[in-house]
Amino acid sequence: MSQQLIFTNEVAPQLDGLIAAHGECRVFLIADVNTATLVLPRLLHDSARLSDATVITIPAGDTNKNLESVARVWKQLSDNGATRSSLVINIGGGMVTDLGAFAAATFKRGVRFINVPTTLLAAVDASVGGKTGFNFNGLKNEIGLFREADAVVISTCFFDTLPVEELKSGYAEMLKHGFLTSANECNELMNTDITQIAADRMLTLLERSVKVKCDIVAQDPTEHGIRRALNLGHTAGHAFESFALAQNRPIPHGYAVAHGLLVALILSHMKAGLDSGWLYKTAAWISDNYGTLTLTCDDYPTLLRYMSHDKKNDSPDRIAFTLIATPGDVRCGVIITPADITAALDIYRDLLHV
Ligand SMILES: NC(=O)c1ccc[n+]([C@@H]2O[C@H](COP(=O)([O-])OP(=O)(O)OC[C@H]3O[C@@H](n4cnc5c(N)ncnc54)[C@H](O)[C@@H]3O)[C@@H](O)[C@H]2O)c1
Ligand SMILES: [Zn+2]
Repeated sequence: MSQQLIFTNEVAPQLDGLIAAHGECRVFLIADVNTATLVLPRLLHDSARLSDATVITIPAGDTNKNLESVARVWKQLSDNGATRSSLVINIGGGMVTDLGAFAAATFKRGVRFINVPTTLLAAVDASVGGKTGFNFNGLKNEIGLFREADAVVISTCFFDTLPVEELKSGYAEMLKHGFLTSANECNELMNTDITQIAADRMLTLLERSVKVKCDIVAQDPTEHGIRRALNLGHTAGHAFESFALAQNRPIPHGYAVAHGLLVALILSHMKAGLDSGWLYKTAAWISDNYGTLTLTCDDYPTLLRYMSHDKKNDSPDRIAFTLIATPGDVRCGVIITPADITAALDIYRDLLHV
């Protein structure tokens, strides 16, 4: 990947250096209403260069990752004289990095941008890998393009204001990366108390986790093959997320991924020979950290419908899963029948005592 990844807890000086290297230019900072209050003042205080930048603030939350917010960013860039040689810096969670990157990548056919992720999920996942976009017509990430940031400045220093739910949500994606890597990585992540990780250690864990994603994306930047490995836990996870939302009990994305990961491990045991010890260990860890979902066998048809509508599937009887034979040994695009998914959901409920 060409994007520069910088792991540091000295974010402002790093940004000053990147701005200087970019040459004489106008700088635009994109934040949502929360990061504008919780993060921006800290950066402005520590930076020698950001005080001249134009701040563009958008409403927070995934429901605002829409065309209206994109248009708002484009308008502000236009009204404030942004040119092709300007620099955009996205400061926020995945909503801001996805949307700000898209707005920058399309303004005047492309303005360069830097991502400064401020949630764990954005640090470990959304801010790297080049997927940009926004929700449209009721569909998630319906519009977008692949465009890598010039640089991503990854730190842990803004996590101190993150609600613990947001931390746990990002940590589920780290565990996913763990299962794509090795048994040691999984064990280390599951033996760590998410809420008690010292900043230095978290930065090291983040660096290892981001490397997993980057190595996969480098082999398949536009997702025609191995990049689907990153979908581990997401086929069932997206179904759980949509199901909870439809029941008016929304759960954070990473919580759904954690539960989806368990379903993927069960199917991995059934279809790819994964040792059953991983199911018990992961089930106990998920139940401790992410609780349980309210689910009965009457809900299976709805869940199956959500899984078959996943954009990566073309038919209701052919639902593709990413599975693992052992941690680090990945099988992409394994077709699973509805009967096997039903069996896996039964085992899932047994393991979690749902
Ligand atoms: N591009 C990709 O590859 C990719 C991958 C995964 C997820 N995503 C996208 O990322 C988004 C989810 O990202 P997210 O979980 O970071 O959500 P988010 O950006 O909506 O942030 C969650 C909440 O935390 C707030 N917040 C951000 N930083 C904070 C801080 N330091 N302290 C306190 N509050 C803070 C935000 O304002 C928001 O209210 C979704 O839109 C998803 O589609 C993209
Ligand atoms: Zn995810």
